[in-house]
Amino acid sequence: MSKRFGAIQALQEVSLNIQPGEAVGLMGVNGAGKSTLLNCICGLMKPDSGAIELDGKDIVGVSPHRVSMMGVGRTFQVPRSFRGLTVLENLIVAPSREADREARADRAHEALKRVKLDRLASNYAWELSGGQQKLLELARLIMIWPNVVLFDEPFAGMHSDLCRMFIDELKEMLQQRVGILLVCHDPGTLYRLSSRIIVMHEGGILAEGSPDQIKADPKVVDAYLGTAH
Ligand SMILES: Nc1ncnc2c1ncn2[C@@H]1O[C@H](COP(=O)(O)OP(=O)(O)O)[C@@H](O)[C@H]1O
Ligand SMILES: [Mg+2]
Repeated sequence: MSKRFGAIQALQEVSLNIQPGEAVGLMGVNGAGKSTLLNCICGLMKPDSGAIELDGKDIVGVSPHRVSMMGVGRTFQVPRSFRGLTVLENLIVAPSREADREARADRAHEALKRVKLDRLASNYAWELSGGQQKLLELARLIMIWPNVVLFDEPFAGMHSDLCRMFIDELKEMLQQRVGILLVCHDPGTLYRLSSRIIVMHEGGILAEGSPDQIKADPKVVDAYLGTAH
């Protein structure tokens, strides 16, 4: 797909696929187009051209809410929540494949337990720390029973204990055959968690391969040393 903002070609004929149970790492310097790619996949933005298929079904133009209901979850660089609702209420109003309110509440309790926020279920979202907000986002993902999850810089500014928990949950998702697209600034973390890496640069794909191939790719080294430092 391609996407332009005025004079900026944010995405230039980018093509990728994510298989069930596979973690694809997405790296690239600031402004490379990573978040725009995620925004297009989850329906927040519409690509100017191209196609996005979920299990062979074209989802271009489908609303973000419906895309979530189809099993595509995402997190944001800055977590979003309804600050005036409680932690539990945030999950009950979140997109979920459970139509029945009681089943949704059960799933919400289960999700909170999984991310260890169950003791804060009745607290308002505005009372949560930054790290806890991220856990709430993770619980919201669990609500949709995702097939695909798009993580946008989930570990940025995160305490190491929390990182570990997040990584455990990510691995649990992979076990459950969820496909993951992970944007992360730290190459070490990305290499460790991903089976395949895509490097974006100026809206295009600069390189794609196994972590070892990417580490040894002079194009990648150039792109990072040339513009990031
Ligand atoms: N909503 C927008 N309006 C205008 N320009 C945008 C918008 N979103 C992103 N851009 C521009 O598109 C390019 C890619 O941005 P982004 O996808 O956020 O990159 P990354 O996530 O890799 O840092 C940047 O030049 C950015 O300024
Ligand atoms: Mg970004």
